[in-house]
Amino acid sequence: MKQDTPTPPSLRATSPQAGEDALNIKNLHVSVEGAPTPPRAGGAPTTPSLDSARDTPPQAGGEILKGVTLRVAQGEVHALMGPNGSGKSTLAHVLLGHPRYKVTSGSITFKDQNVLSLTPEARAKLGLFLSFQYPMEVPGVSFTNFLRTAYNNTRREKDDPISAVDFVKMLREKAEMLGLKEEFFRRPVNEGFSGGEKKRSEIFQLAALEPSIAILDETDSGLDIDALRIVADGINKLRGQRGLESPRSGPGILLITHYQRILNYVQPDFVHVLVDGKIVASGDRRLAITLEEKGYGWVTSSPVAPRHPLLGEERRF
Ligand SMILES: Nc1ncnc2c1ncn2[C@@H]1O[C@H](COP(=O)(O)OP(=O)(O)OP(=O)(O)O)[C@@H](O)[C@H]1O
Ligand SMILES: [Mg+2]
Repeated sequence: MKQDTPTPPSLRATSPQAGEDALNIKNLHVSVEGAPTPPRAGGAPTTPSLDSARDTPPQAGGEILKGVTLRVAQGEVHALMGPNGSGKSTLAHVLLGHPRYKVTSGSITFKDQNVLSLTPEARAKLGLFLSFQYPMEVPGVSFTNFLRTAYNNTRREKDDPISAVDFVKMLREKAEMLGLKEEFFRRPVNEGFSGGEKKRSEIFQLAALEPSIAILDETDSGLDIDALRIVADGINKLRGQRGLESPRSGPGILLITHYQRILNYVQPDFVHVLVDGKIVASGDRRLAITLEEKGYGWVTSSPVAPRHPLLGEERRF
């Protein structure tokens, strides 16, 4: 596999502050115990051009991600699209270290660290944040306490925790920025929240914790049009935000979505399409618009569909 082909300049990191603080996923293969090997269409063998590019022999079964390569620098927004079951949430879970998923080959690095060797807590401390497709309720624990614990564990040294007063002041500012009522963060985490409120609460957590890289898994699903705007505005504000404690670019965002609609509000720098565990195309936001018109079949069958920029020039999808 030709991995060293330079990325075209137009698809390189766009943020001048991006520097080396980029999440680098290289040729990632992931299996899950008990996952059946998906049947191949018509029993035909896997496309030779895709399989021949792999560095590793095919897995026995249960392989979900089949060689994902992606680079998300701070300050960039990458949209990840793809059909149901293509592996988007699996990638999100693997990034945060879910124990169910087994990385069989490939690498994930961030800030000069081998992310795969770190515990989920250490990953969060390094600045990785995952907003879940299905957020959990934590009855009896107020948002304020939950977030302050998370904040102190991820953003502060053990001997320098933020005071409750300072933290509530910060939460107020964030809630105001996102157009949320203060009552929101006084309630128990997600308890009794409507679907849309849970999604907003994920963005609120993102705003409070100021991670370096945020993975937002279908944060736009189930939102009414006003809530979608609030969430999108929130993401845009965070995107342009400079850290309050030290100057840095806004977070890098991996926005997993099924709908082009949110991309009208949060304009991504890049759009990637994941099909059957592989990124089969990458481009700018026009790719999402074309997908909406033509469907995913187009991307796998059309010779003019944009290729993934980190793959060799000879690769066509
Ligand atoms: N823990 C698991 N056990 C068994 N199979 C799994 C597990 N997690 C994921 N899979 C399988 O892996 C495939 C990819 O699932 P994943 O949730 O990553 O898809 P997705 O792209 O996020 O889909 P959607 O758009 O519906 O959210 C699916 O076939 C799913 O059933
Ligand atoms: Mg999913």
